[in-house]
Order: sequence, then C-alpha cells, then structure tokens
Amino acid sequence: MDSSDIDAVVTSMQTSDGLGTSANGASGHLPGTEPPAGQPGPTGRPLPTFPEPPPLASHGPARVIAMCNQKGGVGKTTTTINLGAALAEYGRRVLLVDFDPQGALSVGLGIPAHQLDVTVYNLLTERGHDIRDVIQRTKVEGLDVIPANIDLSAAEVQLVGEVAREQILARVLRPVLDDYDVVLIDCQPSLGLLTVNALTAAHGVLIPLECEFFAMRGVALLVETIEKITDRLNPRLQVDGILATMYDGRTLHSKEVVASVVEHFGERVFHTVISRTVKFPDATLAAEPITTYDSTHKGAGAYRQLARELIARGGAA
Ligand SMILES: Nc1ncnc2c1ncn2[C@@H]1O[C@H](COP(=O)(O)OP(=O)(O)OP(=O)(O)O)[C@@H](O)[C@H]1O
Ligand SMILES: [Mg+2]
Repeated sequence: MDSSDIDAVVTSMQTSDGLGTSANGASGHLPGTEPPAGQPGPTGRPLPTFPEPPPLASHGPARVIAMCNQKGGVGKTTTTINLGAALAEYGRRVLLVDFDPQGALSVGLGIPAHQLDVTVYNLLTERGHDIRDVIQRTKVEGLDVIPANIDLSAAEVQLVGEVAREQILARVLRPVLDDYDVVLIDCQPSLGLLTVNALTAAHGVLIPLECEFFAMRGVALLVETIEKITDRLNPRLQVDGILATMYDGRTLHSKEVVASVVEHFGERVFHTVISRTVKFPDATLAAEPITTYDSTHKGAGAYRQLARELIARGGAA
C-alpha cells in the first residue's frame, strides 16, 4: 500500500459520517455481548471459534513477537501485558521485554524499574551480565519480564557505533529462548535503532492500530520498514497480525475504521478486536494485567481470545 492509498482511505472515512453513532443498530452488539461463533464479528467477517489450546508437554524454543507501531498510545504496552498474561494462563511460558525507555510495561507489572541498577539497557550495552539475573518474575505464574527504565534512552546513541548494531537484542535473548514459549517485545513509538533491534530479533510482528481517524497514517512507513528488515537483516520476519484496539462498537466510526483496515490488510487483521474500556488504565494503575485485575471482564475475555487466535494461526506454540 502506498501513501496515496492511505490518503484515499482517510478521505473516504472523513467524507462519510464518521462520528455518527448507531445505538446498537443492525450489526451493533450490546456492551458485554459477543456474537456467537460463525456470525459476523466486529471485523465484518464470520467469527471463527478459537479452541482452547491444549497444554504443552514441554517448553521452548520461544517464538519472538515484536509489538510495534511508531504511533504513540495505540495499545502496544497494554497488549504486551495482557496478551502475555493470557498466554501464561494457557500454560505458556512467556517473557516480556520492556523495550521502551518510558518503562510503562515494567511499571504496569508492578516492577519499580527506576530503582533497578541492571535492566535491559545493561544487557545491550555492557558485556558480562547474565540475562537470568535481569529477568524478573511477576505475580502471574509463567509470566516474566526484562525491565527497562530511562537508562535505555541512551542506548540508541551508544549502539550506533557497534558492530552488528541491529542484532544486539537477538544476541542478548538467545541464551533464554529455550526456557520460554513466547517472547513479546514492547517497542517504543519510534522506528529507530531499538525498534530495528526488536524486529531483527523477532519471528513475527504484531501491529496494534487504534480505531480512530488516521489510524492508518504511518502504517505504510511501518510496513516499508518491516520489508527492509526482511530483505536485509531478518528474512524469517512475518507480520503476525494487525490488531484493532480501543474499538467502540456503538460508533459507526470505529466500524468504518475496522472495515477499511480489513479492506487493506485482509486476513492479516485479527478477528479479535479490543474494545475501549477504562478497565485497562485501571488495571495498569493497579499494576496488574486485566486477566487478574478483573478476570471476568469483557476486556480480559478479549485478550484470552487474542491468545487463542494467535495460537490457532501458528503465531505462538
Ligand atoms: N482498549 C483500551 N481501552 C481504553 N484505554 C486503553 C485501551 N488500551 C490502552 N488504553 C490506555 O491508553 C493509553 C495508551 O495505551 P498503551 O500505553 O498500551 O499504548 P502504547 O502504544 O504502548 O503507547 P506508547 O506508544 O506511548 O508506548 C494507556 O493509558 C492505556 O491504559
Ligand atoms: Mg507503550
């Protein structure tokens, strides 16, 4: 897709009544109710059933997934935490990598990252650290994290002069890949060297897109970056899926955004969409995934469904 395509999409969304609401109209669903499997889901396609994944008899080697979108505030960190927690509930061993100097992932899991002397930054820039000493357990069984704090903001500049500077994170993670089934890397909102490192270490990339005007702006640049990395650094890299976040099923606008995303990316768009709910920021404040903060909430169910869909698609063990 080139930028003229994207502009066409944006224009078509702007010229329609994008902010109109359809109070649970024809294809609207009451809050808390999901269409039964096989009925059209929120993406307009029939919603398949994603079976509960069978338990794993053994663990590893991990599939590495980068959570990536250079646009800020689209749900990368929220998705990393909650998809990770949902996969852990299904018995997967999950390692989350905080790869944003803001440290929101670490803080969102109750880790006081600003007080830590050794974080992902030290693993990237100094020799002689054991990654296992940096990995922290979380309150969720099977869910571990490599924390980050503001120190990481210096790494981008420091690594520029390194040999194989794009492959440093891949090298850092290698010793523990056999211990985990899935590694999720929470990228910062940029396409700089840290994100390039994440994409080089990854098997797949998951792109959260917020359901709002201009959601697609910048996606062409992201796709171009992914293609360059596939060509030059990491031929195995795949787009695992595009995830619509902050969806509001009561607004025509959200539906139009999802429809246009599906029109352009087809089957790469997850059937699962994540609704907008204040439970997510609430859970972050409580430093917990939504799956433990409010286990029966629809938002927890959505991330469990995403975990099952990812597994069903082969994006995770
Ligand atoms: N589905 C949702 N409904 C409501 N609020 C949400 C949802 N997902 C995320 N949020 C909130 O939106 C804000 C941005 O989300 P998040 O931090 O996950 O995005 P991000 O892409 O990681 O942002 P950044 O680019 O700054 O790292 C947070 O306050 C978060 O709690
Ligand atoms: Mg974030």
